[in-house]
Parts: sequence; structure tokens; C-alpha cells
Amino acid sequence: MISKDTKIAPAEGKLGVVVPGMGAVASTFIAGVEAVRKGIAKPIGSMTQMGTIRLGKRTDNRTPLVKDFVPLADINDIVFGGWDIFPDNMYEASCKAGVLERSLLDQIKPFMEGIKPWPAAFSKDYVKKLDGPNVKKGSKMDWAEQVMEDIKNFQKANNLARTVMVWCGSTEIFLKPEAVHQTVESFEEGLRKNDPGIAPSMIYAYAAIKLGIPYANGAPNLSADIPALLELAKRNNVPVCGKDFKTGQTLMKTILAPGLKSRLLGLSGWFSTNILGNRDGEVLDDPQSFKTKEESKLSVLEHILQPQLYPDLYSDYTHKVRINYYPPRGDSKEGWDNIDIFGWLGYPMQIKVDFLCRDSILAAPIVLDLVIFNDLAGRCGMSGIQEWLSFFFKSPMCAPGLYPEHDLFIQQMKLKNTLRYLKGEDMITHLGVEYYD
Ligand SMILES: NC(=O)c1ccc[n+]([C@@H]2O[C@H](COP(=O)([O-])OP(=O)(O)OC[C@H]3O[C@@H](n4cnc5c(N)ncnc54)[C@H](O)[C@@H]3O)[C@@H](O)[C@H]2O)c1
Repeated sequence: MISKDTKIAPAEGKLGVVVPGMGAVASTFIAGVEAVRKGIAKPIGSMTQMGTIRLGKRTDNRTPLVKDFVPLADINDIVFGGWDIFPDNMYEASCKAGVLERSLLDQIKPFMEGIKPWPAAFSKDYVKKLDGPNVKKGSKMDWAEQVMEDIKNFQKANNLARTVMVWCGSTEIFLKPEAVHQTVESFEEGLRKNDPGIAPSMIYAYAAIKLGIPYANGAPNLSADIPALLELAKRNNVPVCGKDFKTGQTLMKTILAPGLKSRLLGLSGWFSTNILGNRDGEVLDDPQSFKTKEESKLSVLEHILQPQLYPDLYSDYTHKVRINYYPPRGDSKEGWDNIDIFGWLGYPMQIKVDFLCRDSILAAPIVLDLVIFNDLAGRCGMSGIQEWLSFFFKSPMCAPGLYPEHDLFIQQMKLKNTLRYLKGEDMITHLGVEYYD
């Protein structure tokens, strides 16, 4: 538990970032951090690098940068490593992903070429559309031990003070928690017996948590969101957070829906469709991976609109989400939303949103912020689910029995108030009566 006088260990020494899945998002993140370090570009979209935080009254004029307020790791101290089923180094992976221009990548080419993925803990059973040569052998327990070995070697070779892990791997097939996921003991038994309920993303999460490394999950698959790994995280005092980076269409949804609800405008339908042509789109073309993503994307409206509290407005709307793999677009996704709303006396209206976004450009700063904030959580002694990092996720993890907060503005308030709390500053309530006394 944190308190107002939480001791925050200093962010000294090098911070290792280990990434299972070094495709479009991971390579855009790594290239971006290096480009920022070299002064080639700005870290746009990153709360830890560009965000500010108001402290005290509006008249106090105290609005430091977040990174000047809490002791965060310096991006110059970050060292990268990771795993992929393809052996491409980060320069090759970036070129294939086609997100960043060659003119930018060529300025950081030797650095990017120096990062080569370690063999992955992977099975095609969990990502039907993928197969690659750079994979580990043995049982699932062997994979877990090899992943831990990779991390230890990386820590040693780079003289790392701390390490964090962020899953940027493909979306795995839809799995539900079952007996093998319930306790640390049943999970470890399952690893030894190659239980089919244990997906590779769970193995990386297990390895990280075993080694005391904070873990964040950027995809919608369960990964650390099972009782066994949450129990292990508590035992080992490790922060975990997830799931599924909140970018693109869901970001728009969690911006718009709270606004409509705050004005008590009703909803009769929300139809969302996407075209995208990157590898993520190809993986999501498989119905079992899409089902995992669909669950993640569908849940947001229900929780924001609270139909049980507003039956006249939200008890009978249709919500559909479609993802269409369309290769010509590459990473430049197009997300359309048709929103059927109704106002005063039930009169209908429509809103159309056409977001021509770039998936990995939206995801990269989120990866950076999760690295830096999860490392902060570790240095504060925070363990288990980090709900204050919901701001970055489509399906935020939260304590059993709680409903997740999806409203972007509540999530932002939660994040900033957590930082204020950690530093013993007053919460901001926006009451403001003191200005009128
Ligand atoms: N880009 C976004 O806006 C966004 C938003 C939310 C979530 N995500 C999720 O982030 C993840 C990464 O997206 P991306 O666009 O980089 O996809 P990508 O296909 O370019 O990269 C994923 C990489 O993971 C690798 N991989 C798969 N299983 C692995 C395993 N077990 N071990 C090691 N590597 C493995 C693949 O080989 C691939 O290179 C996806 O799950 C995606 O759904 C992305």
C-alpha cells in the first residue's frame, strides 16, 4: 500500500526494457526513444516526457512537468532487449513494419541493428496466423526458465539497476481462466505438464514476476490477469498492469462516450469498423484472436454509460465492432464510427467519426509511459494490479468485484492524483469555493 509519505527509491542506474514481440509497435517505440535521445524528434503523446501536473490552487501557478515532479527514469538510461519468432534486428523489423520513414531510420541504423530478438517462447496453437523460426524448445517450464535466463544475461551484460517487461506480442486466442490459472502451485504444475491453458504471454509474465520485474500487457489476451500470477505478484511485491493499449478507435470512444453521457444524450447504436493492413491486422483476421480483441473493445461502452443507472438512455443500444484486414493500408488504419444518439423528447441524431490514424504511432508513447510509470511503481513498493495506469488500456485490470474505469478523464484524474498522493500533495477536486470567499 502506498501512503502520503511513501519512500520513493531514486531512479539511479540503467533501466532495462524487455519486450516479448518486437514487431511494429515495439520497433516504433524503440526507434522513437532513440530518435528523441538524439534530438531528431520530440516524444509527442508521452505523459512522462511532455505532460504537466497542476499542484495546489489555480492561483498558485505550480504546474511542473510530471518528470520534474516525481523521480522518473531518464530515457537516456534505457536499454532494450526482447524476443520474437522472427530473427530480424530492429532496423529490419522497422523497415518491414513500414511505420517510420527510411530517412529517420537511417539516422539510427547502427543502434537499431544492434538489437536482435532472442528466441521466442511461442506456439502456433495460440496465434494461428503466425509461424517463425526463432523459437525455444522444450516444455513450457523450460521456456519459462530460458526466458528468465535471457533476462539475467541481459541484466548482467548491461549492468542494469532495474528491468521492466511490456508485452508487445501478437494477440493470442481467446482463453478463459480455468483451474490451472487459480494458484501459483497449479500454474507451475501446468507449466511442467504443458497444460494447453497456459499461453506464451503467461509464461513471459510468470518469468518477469518471478524475477521481481514489473509487467505490463499491451494486448487483450489474459497474460498476467489470472489469479495465479496476481498472487505471485503480491508475494514477490511486483507491479502488474494491462490490458490492451488504448489507441485509435477505443481512445475516441472513451473520449466521446463520457461527453455524451455527461449531457444525458441517449444512445441507440454505435457501429465501429476498421480497415488495417499490418501484421496485427492479419493476426486479428483469425476469428479466435479477433474474439479476444472484440471482448476488449466491446466492454468499454457498457462501463462508461452505466445502463443500470440510466435505463431510459442506455438500456437498449446496439454496439458492433468490426476489424477488416486490408493490406494496402499497412499500419495506417482507418476507423469509422457511426453513432446514433437521441436528444430532447427522443429526437434522433447521428455522429460520424472517421479517424485516419497510425496504430503504432499512437501506441509507442504509451509503451514508453508504461515502462517509466511501472518502474516508478516498483521503486515505490507498489505491487499487484496498478489501476492508476488504466489511462493507457482498453481493458484495465482492477481488483475482483470492482468494475473497471474506462472514462479517459476519470482515468487521467486517477493517474495524476496518484502522483500527487505519492508526493504528499493535496488531491485536486475542482471544488474551487476558496476562490469566492
Ligand atoms: N498498435 C496499436 O495501436 C495497438 C493497440 C492495442 C494493442 N495492440 C497490440 O499490440 C500488439 C503488437 O502490435 P503490433 O502492431 O506491433 O503487431 P506486430 O504483428 O507487428 O508485432 C507483434 C510481434 O509479436 C511477435 N510474437 C507473437 N507471439 C510471440 C511470442 N509468443 N513471443 C515473442 N514474439 C511473439 C510476432 O512475431 C510479431 O513480430 C498486438 O497484440 C496488438 O493487438 C496494438
